[in-house]
Amino acid sequence: MSKFASPGTHEVYHDRVVKILVMFSIFWALLGMIAGVYAAAELVWPALNLENPWLSFGRLRTLHTNVVIFGFGVSALMGTAYYSVQRTSHVPLFAPKLAWFTCWAWQIAILLGGISLLAGFNTSKEYAELEWPFDIAITLVWVCFAIVFFGTIATRRIREIYISNWFYGGLIIVIAMLHIVNNLAIPVTLTKSYSLYAGAQDAIVQWWYGHNAVGFLLTGGFLGMMYYFLPKQAERPIWSYRLSIVAFWAFAYSYIWAGPHHLHFNAVPEWVQNLGMLMSLVLLAPSWASMINGIMTVSTAWEKLRTDPALKFIVLALAFYGLATFEGPMMAIKTVNIISHFTDWTVGHVHSGALGWNALITFGTFYYLIPRLVGAPLYSVALANLHFWLALAGTMLYVVAMWGAGVSQGVLWLSLDELGELRYTFTEIMQAMYPYYLLRFIAGLVFLIGAALMAFNLWKTIAGRHTVTVHPPQVTEAYA
Ligand code: HEM
Ligand code: HEM
Repeated sequence: MSKFASPGTHEVYHDRVVKILVMFSIFWALLGMIAGVYAAAELVWPALNLENPWLSFGRLRTLHTNVVIFGFGVSALMGTAYYSVQRTSHVPLFAPKLAWFTCWAWQIAILLGGISLLAGFNTSKEYAELEWPFDIAITLVWVCFAIVFFGTIATRRIREIYISNWFYGGLIIVIAMLHIVNNLAIPVTLTKSYSLYAGAQDAIVQWWYGHNAVGFLLTGGFLGMMYYFLPKQAERPIWSYRLSIVAFWAFAYSYIWAGPHHLHFNAVPEWVQNLGMLMSLVLLAPSWASMINGIMTVSTAWEKLRTDPALKFIVLALAFYGLATFEGPMMAIKTVNIISHFTDWTVGHVHSGALGWNALITFGTFYYLIPRLVGAPLYSVALANLHFWLALAGTMLYVVAMWGAGVSQGVLWLSLDELGELRYTFTEIMQAMYPYYLLRFIAGLVFLIGAALMAFNLWKTIAGRHTVTVHPPQVTEAYA
């Protein structure tokens, strides 16, 4: 019997681990965003730090970025990867016990890691702030994640490896590579280590890591989610399968070179900066190819947008994805970057991606997934619709506030008087930020309230119900 023969009826998909990962993801989303809102409030009312170092802006900000990216984002990606890889391979998860290990070990690492950041332990490398014992734990969980995911693909009963798996696979391989190389360090105590790199080398390695973490996690991983859940929700096949494959390889090839756009006008060679700028402009094409593919997939199912809140979230997420991936290449142009760098414009760009793209696509996916996992309709479609409008309002307000703040900062900092001296002091410019920061705080609060409504809605959908048992299909495609 070939390994592609029909499955036995005793086989079931392992969906409980998916459900738990989704629930943890929502928990971290709320916690991470509470930290974000509190940090935003501190920029308006600095006394809110209560002179307690655990509540200082620097520590809360780091907690925020780590909890939203690695707690909320990675738990969502792990859960949705486990769900979709089973269905696109027609087999249950390979090594399900290992999948449970990845689920729990990841949550413990985020919890302890978050506490260590609040306590002030920090490598000072952005998005890689956790100290070396956590780096080792993360490597271990990630290797197990890879074994479960690629093991499932290796035992698949369909010839094709569906496009979502290419993106999830890219996420797993590239993040492993980035994490290990960027975190190479010499430990001196349990809580302190020194990076193997120094000076310009350190900066280049760090932003090769930082940019590609954005690329293969916040972009590529979530594109994997999009390629599986968007066609499912629209009940249409992906518009152009060929385009999706071309976009994947073009994306993987061009992203990896673009990191130096974070180091414009820094002490790294000019040609490295220019290469980063050029490859960022090239990146627009594969980024938009996936957006166009997604939009065209729903283009014959627009009527569903009126009734299906989950699909609305995903389509809006694609629009913000298009916006962020247009803005990014523009900001990578050196003449634009001279204004945007070090300003809140960057923070606006980040959140048009983070809120508009990452959070919205994940929320849409959860609205689709949870009812199917427990075999019950969503508790309240009206609440989900309200969440949609709060999420849209919160994101727009956040991004507009930060554009206003960022462009003002950039222009005011560069402004010179007739003697060639700086026209405005740093303090004056900070004071001018007050209305923008207040607006960003309100925006964050609105977005957070929407997410809390989702948590309530999904909790009511899950409460008292078991995970549905689903068998792989009995008739599977022959391995030609
Ligand atoms: C074609 C795609 C994109 C390009 C070329 C791009 C380019 C850029 C540029 C030029 C910066 C500012 C660097 C600086 O001046 O310091 C930046 C920052 C950033 N971008 Fe993008 N971007 C893209 C898409 C995205 C997306 C979809 C996200 C998703 C969330 C994202 C997240 C970020 C983050 C987190 C930062 C801030 C990094 C930091 O300084 O901490 N980007 N990006
Ligand atoms: C309630 C919603 C949110 C609020 C109020 C919020 C607030 C903030 C604040 C105040 C900062 C620090 C900005 C600074 O240093 O000046 C920040 C940074 C950041 N946030 Fe959020 N955030 C929210 C949601 C999210 C989500 C959902 C994500 C990711 C999925 C995210 C990712 C980031 C990143 C990557 C940075 C670092 C940006 C940079 O270095 O340029 N945020 N956020």
